[in-house]
Amino acid sequence: MPSTNLKISINNVSLCYGEKMIFENVNIAIQEHTITAIVGPSGIGKSSLLQILNQMIREEEGVDVKGEVYFYEENGAQDILKLHEDRLPKLRQKVVYVAQHPDILPFSIYDNMAFALRLQGLNKEEIAFKVEKALKQVFLWDEVSERLNSHASLLSGGQQQRLILARALALSPQVLLLDEPTASLNESLSHKIEASLVELKKEITIIIISHFKAQVQRIADTIFEIQTSS
Ligand SMILES: Nc1ncnc2c1ncn2[C@@H]1O[C@H](COP(=O)(O)OP(=O)(O)OP(=O)(O)O)[C@@H](O)[C@H]1O
Ligand SMILES: [Mg+2]
Repeated sequence: MPSTNLKISINNVSLCYGEKMIFENVNIAIQEHTITAIVGPSGIGKSSLLQILNQMIREEEGVDVKGEVYFYEENGAQDILKLHEDRLPKLRQKVVYVAQHPDILPFSIYDNMAFALRLQGLNKEEIAFKVEKALKQVFLWDEVSERLNSHASLLSGGQQQRLILARALALSPQVLLLDEPTASLNESLSHKIEASLVELKKEITIIIISHFKAQVQRIADTIFEIQTSS
């Protein structure tokens, strides 16, 4: 067995929206270079849990997040629930969330891909290389390479879903948080994306929410079910 390293350790994490307890004392150990699937019924808090991991959901008025989430890097571990606001942009480059409903930006296909890369200070050639590579990884390149300057909102639902996945991959994250990434794709495309994810885990750590049981069985190394809080 190859030795594995912890990448994220979720310790006794609980979430309340106002008075409403969503989940309580969730514990998950996520190993580097694995695919962890999070499953459970609709409304149980799966998307919320992923958004805690990149701190899009944080402790604030009306939102109560308890517990610890340790994020491990070469130089040690830190509890991301305690990160100062200033350090969140860096965290969100390393732990990237791909939304359940494609949150495309009101720009062209190319600019959707390039926006965050420009903010990172990459030059034009580096950006063009990363954009093409990521669009190929999600099997979208052949469909859009001739119309990269057209508006992303003109893409079909399945194309938009692949675009936001490509946009995340182009950032070269350490951890990819995927919220139902194949929900609007046909079976053949879903299988191709699954194969890409299995390939990708050699480089990164993946946490995926999926309601497709067969998909979870095929690709997940670990399956975690969120239980209803009593
Ligand atoms: N900002 C918010 N304020 C109050 N309640 C919220 C907020 N966001 C989500 N909720 C509620 O928290 C619960 C968990 O939502 P979440 O989206 O995490 O569920 P889910 O497991 O991802 O569901 P699905 O499988 O349908 O996507 C739901 O009851 C939802 O209505
Ligand atoms: Mg959800």
